[in-house]
Amino acid sequence: MRADAECHGHAKPLRMISSAADDAPIALDLLPDWRALLGDRAGRLEVEMGSGHGGYALAFAHERPERALVAIEQRLKFADRLRARAEHRGYANLVVLQGDARLLAARLFRAGSLAAVHLHFPDPWWKRRHHRRRLVDDGMARLIFGLLARGGLLDLRSDVERYAAEALDRLEAIGFLNEAGRGRFAERAPDEIPSTREKRYLATGQAVWRVRLRKP
Ligand SMILES: C[S@@+](CC[C@H](N)C(=O)[O-])C[C@H]1O[C@@H](n2cnc3c(N)ncnc32)[C@H](O)[C@@H]1O
Repeated sequence: MRADAECHGHAKPLRMISSAADDAPIALDLLPDWRALLGDRAGRLEVEMGSGHGGYALAFAHERPERALVAIEQRLKFADRLRARAEHRGYANLVVLQGDARLLAARLFRAGSLAAVHLHFPDPWWKRRHHRRRLVDDGMARLIFGLLARGGLLDLRSDVERYAAEALDRLEAIGFLNEAGRGRFAERAPDEIPSTREKRYLATGQAVWRVRLRKP
């Protein structure tokens, strides 16, 4: 990802960013003003991609009032329902957005600005023709790496060992540090908030594969 200094033809030069030479550039000055929306909490912003029914997002907002979470969910019904519940409970530290996280992420956050990215049980899209819908492909892995601040956390959980192992390989290859040791899955942290789907697995004992990586 590169940022160019200016774009001519505007009264005020815009800073532009593009992920590859042939991508349409994104004007950085048009990113949301998270500080105006969330105050000091914007300094350590976290993002959940694919929040589904929102068990993680709602518990996060309740248990971590000093932090802020942006939950991105592509299904309109899920996103609307989660936003309504967050508003009803008066959570000022949770922003719910509907859309494809792969398209939105680079348009919402500055490079090096995120404290954490959470990806819980992303759909594995087994069929080869569906692979392009996968959340953690090479492009997305690089984008997340670029958006995280130094020391920022990537928290990926999956119920599919092969998917988690492939993602782990890919993420370590682009430079993430694995606190559990290279190629190893993480243990469940005692203070970890479960997602909606994970609560079911915790109840039934079904295995969950955890990838917890840091940007060095
Ligand atoms: C299997 S569900 C898991 C939901 C939740 N994270 C949990 O653990 O309960 C996957 C969710 O990711 C959403 N999703 C899939 N691809 C997405 C994308 N590119 N952008 C945003 N959401 C996405 C789906 O709509 C679905 O709600």
